Amino acid sequence: MIHQLNDTSLKNTSVTILAIESSCDDTSVAICEDGKILSNIIANQSVHEKYGGVVPELASRAHIQNIVPTVQTALTAANVTLNSIDAIAFTQSPGLIGSLLVGVQFAKSAALALDKPLIAVHHMQAHVLANLIDTDNRPDFPFLCLTVSGGHTQIVLVKSPLDLEVIGETIDDAAGEAFDKCAKLLGLPYPGGPLIDKYAKEGNPLSFKFAEPQMPALNFSFSGLKTSVLYFLQKQDAGFIEANLSDLCASIQYTIINILLKKLNKAVLQTGVKRVCIAGGVSANSGLRNGLQAMGKKYGWNTYIPAFQYCTDNAAMIAITAHYKYQAGQFAGLDASPNARAEW
Ligand code: KG4
Ligand code: ZN
Repeated sequence: MIHQLNDTSLKNTSVTILAIESSCDDTSVAICEDGKILSNIIANQSVHEKYGGVVPELASRAHIQNIVPTVQTALTAANVTLNSIDAIAFTQSPGLIGSLLVGVQFAKSAALALDKPLIAVHHMQAHVLANLIDTDNRPDFPFLCLTVSGGHTQIVLVKSPLDLEVIGETIDDAAGEAFDKCAKLLGLPYPGGPLIDKYAKEGNPLSFKFAEPQMPALNFSFSGLKTSVLYFLQKQDAGFIEANLSDLCASIQYTIINILLKKLNKAVLQTGVKRVCIAGGVSANSGLRNGLQAMGKKYGWNTYIPAFQYCTDNAAMIAITAHYKYQAGQFAGLDASPNARAEW
């Protein structure tokens, strides 16, 4: 059943959306009113740290524990009550199926109980549209977005909020995965991306040279980099990593950013679009943020980077996407189900 809005509800001047993100290991809830984010609460799951990666079953259980308190905190922070919510949005795909299920079921129950429409959101589209949250500094259309997360690496041509085309992507590991796997080889805990970023600040990016795969068109590959780091480390003496940690991190980060920015430049040349954004967890990386700005200066691009809290997984990006879907009348039915792998 798809909830039908009558004319009066669509013309309602103020629309408040409650959005839920639960695709991986963070439970997040945001409230947005007419595209303005009123609150964005994120409950992180520390339970995975000792396992060196996200344990799906533990993630689902933690979502179940976190979801109600996170909704309550988001409502309180936004100074909004459940009665003033006009629509419930949720991440439908992609992600861990058990994690997605918790958000989808909660959203469906809330929509049924409140008799409000449901909006299903694709997580990767939401990462891209995080660039539209800051109304004082957002790109006009069309723009390009390099979306770099733990599971995806894509270059997206964005013609409008709901018309996006993936024009390049990774054929193996994602950029975030490359950061995390290289960090693991250095003995750093999960997720290693932020730690590589931290240690890289003290190191020399030209200390060590690692493989930069040459991929055709606008596609990426990162599995060769991980192997190149592994073979290099296997040849070193004990104590080498500890003695050279900052230089190793700086060199790995430099290589990943080089691969990303070279392809982004190719996409600009190919499309002629010079409004360039980044999104996804890896867009929190200070080297990538500085690198994008430097490229912008050099080539005359207008560059856009979401605020930190909208780079890694968050429900504000689900809410802003839902805002545009609401305006377009794109609602989901109560039979909506999560999809671990759906592309768009
Ligand atoms: O978008 P995200 O929060 O979740 C997914 O949808 O995957 O991205 C998580 C990824 C992880 O691989 C994490 O290591 C990486 O983003 N990441 C970073 C930084 N912050 C998060 N990688 C490099 N530098 C960072 N500062
Ligand atoms: Zn994500």
